[in-house]
Amino acid sequence: MSNSISEKIIFGVADSSYKAAGEEHGLRKLSTDFYSLMDTLPAAKLIRDMHKDDLELMTDKLTLFLSMWLGGPRTYIEKYGKASMPQAHSKFIINEPERDAWLLCMDRAIDRQSYTKQFKDYLKKQFRFPAEMIRKTSKFS
Ligand code: HEM
Repeated sequence: MSNSISEKIIFGVADSSYKAAGEEHGLRKLSTDFYSLMDTLPAAKLIRDMHKDDLELMTDKLTLFLSMWLGGPRTYIEKYGKASMPQAHSKFIINEPERDAWLLCMDRAIDRQSYTKQFKDYLKKQFRFPAEMIRKTSKFS
């Protein structure tokens, strides 16, 4: 018999977060929404300008990176090689305004998904760790 305790999903264990995010299809939608927000939100112009004009490749990279980060398949490594986020970002100037603009786009993108409130809150909190790590390791911070 199920009860509220046995029904509680513990995100972050094995591929539970990957599944809650709708697997690759769901993460592709999240990544597409994320870059579409980055492309249009005035508050994100400072980071939009750091990216190439065409965001299609980045959408694929983010989708596959997030799949792996959330416990799903490691397709990113097979397709794009090793995944060092500090290294991938080291040539950019990322201080608090850039970090916060990135997180704003991600929070808004998460809000557009049909995830449960519990998973949305969890995911928003989780993104703060790599974003802050990237800010700290940015060469110019
Ligand atoms: C902290 C603020 C961040 C800024 C300003 C930022 C900005 C950028 C920029 C400018 C690029 C290169 C884009 C291009 O080549 O056109 C990039 C690449 C990337 N970013 Fe970020 N990023 C941030 C945080 C994050 C976070 C938190 C994640 C993941 C959780 C992430 C995942 C990626 C991935 C997967 C790539 C592609 C790396 C590759 O070339 O394989 N970024 N980011």
